[in-house]
Amino acid sequence: MAGAEPTFYTAMRTKDVLEAYARWAPVYDLVFGPILKSSRKAAVAALPPDAGRVLEVGVGTGVSLPDYPRHMRVVGIDLSASMLARARARAKREGLTHVEGLIEMDASRLAFPDDSFDVAMAMYVMTVVPDPAGTMAEMRRVVRPGGRVLAVSHFASDAPARRALSSALSPLARLMGWNTTISASRLAAVPGFRLVSDRAVGIFGFHRLLEFEVVK
Ligand SMILES: C[S@@+](CC[C@H](N)C(=O)[O-])C[C@H]1O[C@@H](n2cnc3c(N)ncnc32)[C@H](O)[C@@H]1O
Repeated sequence: MAGAEPTFYTAMRTKDVLEAYARWAPVYDLVFGPILKSSRKAAVAALPPDAGRVLEVGVGTGVSLPDYPRHMRVVGIDLSASMLARARARAKREGLTHVEGLIEMDASRLAFPDDSFDVAMAMYVMTVVPDPAGTMAEMRRVVRPGGRVLAVSHFASDAPARRALSSALSPLARLMGWNTTISASRLAAVPGFRLVSDRAVGIFGFHRLLEFEVVK
């Protein structure tokens, strides 16, 4: 999608992410496992069936890793060592041999070559990362032309009143570990993508699953 780089107001900093997810890690699956399960499953179901290599950005505790079809090879990255430790333990415990690697890495500075994945998946991550535009640009770089970027999250509304409420809540949200100000429309305005679909998912349909084609 052509256009000027959108600016994102983001309350999150790397330090906030690390602190919040070190706190969440021991209880994350209990609190956010079942409640986000259906939308995560919808995101995995939206993967192109012929995808070979998938990058899961912000893989967290790896709660979705068992859901990927076994013919796909999955690499997960996350900024938080505490969350990743749980993902590694899960992969070992459940014998997830389709998981190629679980690596501590910043999504806005990916250490992978250009065009090295068929799909990048971001589940409840684009509303957490300190640099959403940089993260989108990096996912675009490492996904091959015509590949897909899938992002599911609770995105902010574009309606002015609800946007003001989101901004007002953002200091509290930062402490909790997410950003209430990232809207799907701003994400869709990042250059180099074609929005293929945008649909409501999850309990009550409050969350959105965006599917982008990478255009190069
Ligand atoms: C809300 S959790 C989502 C975890 C998992 N994807 C899920 O569906 O439950 C957000 C995750 O994004 C990670 N994260 C935030 N900023 C990141 C960044 N810049 N690079 C990599 N991971 C990041 C956090 O450490 C955390 O594990």
